[in-house]
Formats: sequence, structure tokens, C-alpha cells
Amino acid sequence: MNAIFHRVSIRKYQEKPVEQEKIITMLKAAMAAPSACNQQPWEYYVVTNKEKIEELSRTSPYASCAKDAPLVFVACARKEEGIIAPSYIEIDMSASVENLLLEADALNLGAVWLGIAPEQERMEAVRKVIDLPEKLYAFALLPCGYPAEERPQENRYEESRVHYLK
Ligand SMILES: Cc1cc2nc3c(=O)[nH]c(=O)nc-3n(C[C@H](O)[C@H](O)[C@H](O)COP(=O)(O)O)c2cc1C
Repeated sequence: MNAIFHRVSIRKYQEKPVEQEKIITMLKAAMAAPSACNQQPWEYYVVTNKEKIEELSRTSPYASCAKDAPLVFVACARKEEGIIAPSYIEIDMSASVENLLLEADALNLGAVWLGIAPEQERMEAVRKVIDLPEKLYAFALLPCGYPAEERPQENRYEESRVHYLK
């Protein structure tokens, strides 16, 4: 898959808005992820409101790059409804977020994963900005847009970290 070997974190974006069709395709990718017992704990907020985006960029000390993004996905997790394996929720969320990032790359968009959970302070800050209902919690911010920076992916393959048992 080309996106796997092309995706890098993109933190600078063109002003151009992201087409609704592409937004839906990224969300479909996010929701196509595997999850424990197929519990699909994810819900996504799609934020294009400039004021809200600015507020989101201040919910973590490492989220300032979200400020100029035309779009920020807030990946959220359900705490109870339909949750069979609670200890796997954040593992499931990670698979979903990675799927979304890869699809963004495949659509010639750029995005970055900004960590929110498990930092309580950041999670509460995001909750306030988007008025999250109690049954959900914020897992990550994913600013997204047409890239205004370019960088080749580094090769991280380390043969010494592979162990064959033959
Ligand atoms: C769980 C997680 C949390 C991250 N949080 C942040 C963050 O808060 N701010 C940021 O700029 N990048 C964040 N990143 C992006 C990483 O810095 C980035 O993935 C890493 O440096 C590797 O670079 P690459 O994505 O270009 O391959 C996060 C990535 C992950 C997986």
C-alpha cells in the first residue's frame, strides 16, 4: 500500500477547504478499522468552525499546529454503550486513527495525530470546547488539509528488531 510508505505527519496546511466527499471517505476508512469483539468504540466530530479550531489548538501544549488547519477531526471513544472489551478501547481507537491518516495521504491530504487521551487535562479541555456528552471522551485531534509542506518518509526498518524462529 503506497500510503503506508508515503504518509508523514503534516502540520502545515493550505487554506483550501477539504471536500465533503473526501471527509466521508476518511471517516469510512476510520470506521473500517478492526476492533476488539468488533465493538467499534469510535465517534468522530468534524470541526470546520474556525473559532472552535483555534480553541482546540490550545487544548494541549503540542497542538498549536491545528490552528491553521481547515478541518480538525476529533476522534472520540464511547465509554459504555456497545462496549464489550473496555480495556481494548484505546487500542481500537489507535487502529481507527491510523486508518484515517493513511486514507488522508491516499487522497493527497495531510494530517497529524495529536495526542489527547490519556492526559486528563487535555481530555477535559477538548470536552469543554466541543461540548462532548458524558458518554464520550476525546482520544485524539487530527488536523487535516491540503499540505503546505513536503517531506520524504524516513526508512525505519531495523533488521535487528526482527526475530525469526524457523
Ligand atoms: C499517540 C501519538 C501522539 C502524538 N501526539 C502528537 C502531538 O501532540 N503533537 C504533534 O505535533 N505530533 C504528535 N504526534 C505525531 C508524532 O510526533 C509523529 O508521528 C512522529 O514524530 C513520527 O513522525 P511521522 O508521523 O512523520 O512518521 C503523535 C503521534 C502519536 C502516535
